[in-house]
Amino acid sequence: MHVHLPGAQAVQFFTSLMSQKKAASDRMEKIVSLCKRRGFVFQSSEIYGGLNGCWDYGPLGVELRRNLKDFWWRRMVRERDDVVGMDGSILLNRQVWVASGHENTFSDPMVDCRNCKSRLRADQLPEKDGRKQCPVCGSFDLTEPRAFNLMFKTFVGATEDESATTYLRPETAQSIFVQFRNVLEVSRKKLPFGIAQIGKAFRNEINPRNFIFRSREFEQMELEYFCFPNQGLELLEYWLKERLRFYADIGLSKDKLHVHEIPPDERSHYSKGTYDIEFEFPFGVQELEGVAYRTDYDLTQHQKASGKPLEYFDEETKTHLIPHVVEPSAGVDRTLLALLCAAYDEETVTDDKGKSEVRTVLRLHPRMAPIKCGIFPLLKNNELLVKKAREIVEMLRGDMAVFYDETGAIGRRYRRQDEAGTPFGITVDFDTIGENGPANQDTVTVRYRDSMEQKRLAITEIPGFLREQIA
Ligand code: GAP
Repeated sequence: MHVHLPGAQAVQFFTSLMSQKKAASDRMEKIVSLCKRRGFVFQSSEIYGGLNGCWDYGPLGVELRRNLKDFWWRRMVRERDDVVGMDGSILLNRQVWVASGHENTFSDPMVDCRNCKSRLRADQLPEKDGRKQCPVCGSFDLTEPRAFNLMFKTFVGATEDESATTYLRPETAQSIFVQFRNVLEVSRKKLPFGIAQIGKAFRNEINPRNFIFRSREFEQMELEYFCFPNQGLELLEYWLKERLRFYADIGLSKDKLHVHEIPPDERSHYSKGTYDIEFEFPFGVQELEGVAYRTDYDLTQHQKASGKPLEYFDEETKTHLIPHVVEPSAGVDRTLLALLCAAYDEETVTDDKGKSEVRTVLRLHPRMAPIKCGIFPLLKNNELLVKKAREIVEMLRGDMAVFYDETGAIGRRYRRQDEAGTPFGITVDFDTIGENGPANQDTVTVRYRDSMEQKRLAITEIPGFLREQIA
């Protein structure tokens, strides 16, 4: 950034820039802390000091993840006639990675700092006076960049030699390409059609960072949408729109999303068009998903290397062709982080006694929320209140994740669910059990997490009300 400002103005500008940076990093710290405190995300192997780039999802995190993956699957597979799913193995024949180009070219340029021995991404180094600098110790004494392959190597079977070597998959896409013929035959689909997969991928990232944003073990949600060559460019636009619609429907607002068209000289050599869908994270605008038109590159590579035909027979023209492919490729962990960042909010509220406090609330879309509804008897030592509340839990739990809580003041219980992102709270009170007359018997209070407004609802109406909100 080149900015020329007179003295006082420059100081003001840089002070404001620094305070924006500080606010962003404070916000991120608060999100990470909430994730641990409430059981969304823990450091992997924490009691042994952790394992850099690996994370575990706790009780709330696993529900959020499941809701995200289920909604992706619903949107991309179940609601469509032209997409089927598959679930491939994590270990594949090494030749897959030779043919796809990963063995030779899936690498990042890396340098070592001779002073502090840090290993660093060469393309992410800060510069001072035109010279690359170590961000850890500030030294300029860096090695020349070298290619560092990101795939995790492993051995299959009892011998640990070259012939037994393979890799943990660095993307799910390749198992779709190598199963293209099998899936085509069993599904009897006609072009254009897609194969979708959700699954783990592994990359030995040089600098895993920004919490779960860039990790070494993560999960992808990928679609390979096969088509005739003349449909590729149009379908690239179509899938970009579809994917933006998806993000809107899980509660990521348009103004936090950006579409970055990758210029031709920065695209993979086989791609005829690539968009990155980016999100405004507290640590900057970063990629959430890539939507790429990969032409016929992958199937052609695998056909050549395996010697097996990976063609499609077009009944209409009676010709064989290698389909082209458009690939929307998203990350589960990154999207989950975007959801948490977008949802995190703090507001000052005043209670009945005029006392104000800061309320932390996760404004997750009800569709994504790990728990859909908290259920609270007003008092835990009243048998009738507890019994009714438990009956409501039983009525709902087959359909959705609910949480029963009888401990502490009702306000505290609401706050705990606000932090967990639970969109609705149901309170069973003395009206419910008819102690204040028949008018409100068998009705409950429903509290909205975001507005904190409350309304009364008949118990029989609860399932329908909640289903409509979380559909
Ligand atoms: N098949 C194409 C492919 O894998 P990519 O851009 O390398 O493309 C796709 O990855 C998506 O996978 C990214 O947009 C991101 O959401 C997710 N992803 C990639 N590397 C990741 C990492 N180290 N940690 C978390 N998510 C990652």
